[in-house]
Amino acid sequence: MKIILAYSGGLDTSICIKWLQEHYMADVITLTLELGQGENDLREIERKAESLGAKKTYSLDCREEFVQHYINPAIMANALYEGRYPVATAITRPLIGKHLVRIAEKEGADAVAHGSTGKGNDQVRFEMTIRALSPDLKIIAPAREWDLTRDRAIEFAKTEGIPIPADINSPYSTDENLWGRSIEAGPLEDPMHQPDEDIYKWTDSVENSHNKPEYITIEFEHGIPVGLNSDRINGVELIKKLNDMGGKHGIGRIDMIEDRLVGIKSREIYECPAATIILGAHRDLERLTLTREEVLFKEIVDSMWARLAYFGQWHEPLLHDLNSFIAKTQESVSGTVRMKLYKGRAEIVGRESGNSLYDLGMATYDENDKFNHKLAEGFIRLWGLPSEIASRRRK
Ligand code: ARG
Repeated sequence: MKIILAYSGGLDTSICIKWLQEHYMADVITLTLELGQGENDLREIERKAESLGAKKTYSLDCREEFVQHYINPAIMANALYEGRYPVATAITRPLIGKHLVRIAEKEGADAVAHGSTGKGNDQVRFEMTIRALSPDLKIIAPAREWDLTRDRAIEFAKTEGIPIPADINSPYSTDENLWGRSIEAGPLEDPMHQPDEDIYKWTDSVENSHNKPEYITIEFEHGIPVGLNSDRINGVELIKKLNDMGGKHGIGRIDMIEDRLVGIKSREIYECPAATIILGAHRDLERLTLTREEVLFKEIVDSMWARLAYFGQWHEPLLHDLNSFIAKTQESVSGTVRMKLYKGRAEIVGRESGNSLYDLGMATYDENDKFNHKLAEGFIRLWGLPSEIASRRRK
């Protein structure tokens, strides 16, 4: 039997390698994707997999693909699950699932495997993708089948000679990629417990953040950020840079109670400086370039998009339908947003666009006013007519 395992190099997925070998007598092939997790050394991870008996290892730098096909659509959709979480972890799962299926086909594998547990969102996202792309491919979730507790995992790792990571005593479960860092569990499970400062890796506290404001401009073309401070910049670089800049200003910390798709409420902490800055800028530019009706309707579409992405419905036809609508709206979303980064906030201080719907002649209060005040009177009469009639009837 041949199994392709989504392998991060961490303890849990290292255990999966051994477990799959023992339980299924399988040849395990690992697949590791670089999505901007930080100081990952792909070669190092491959060596670790080999030392644990992996028959073959794949590692791919998928950052460009992640930005182009996952983060950019999320930006265009202003994607925030329950109004706050930029779906950073969520949108990696369909990408990883897609490559699992691809490698499984290439290798003629019998199954694919992932290390997600039975009560989270990630198992659903992986498996929905895999089933959509290859309905007959067998899926194995060792952590779910085995009901692996922390203690049992460590026990098993010790007997199997799996290297125990230095931070093994950390009670937190974390996940990170270019678009954000997720932190959960341990003391955070008490919703009243204030997060300890040491859980944060990307952001400084407001107290310790820079004492001077920093001004930036972000340029968008058709809804996608393409420039920083008038220089053209590649998406991966832009996001890395904004994570760094924003983090130093204490921007992008989120502490929320979130509704998981399996029905549980959970307490989640996120650090997403770049996402906070870019989504804020993008939303503002839409308000300059889309009509009132478009903005209103798009809010509904956007929240649905975020929900589908969060719920693992990446291959649900509705998501593609929404993408078509969103892409159409983004035709006019080009321009520049100026922001002030300071003390935990990414404040918008200016915006301009060749497609702006802002009309100074209409807006101004000075003598250049082109707005016909006379029209207002009749307009108000008609606009209020239904209420007026109803009111008369009441009397
Ligand atoms: N609650 C977030 C989500 O469902 C983050 C999950 C983080 N995953 C993890 N293994 N720590 O998208």
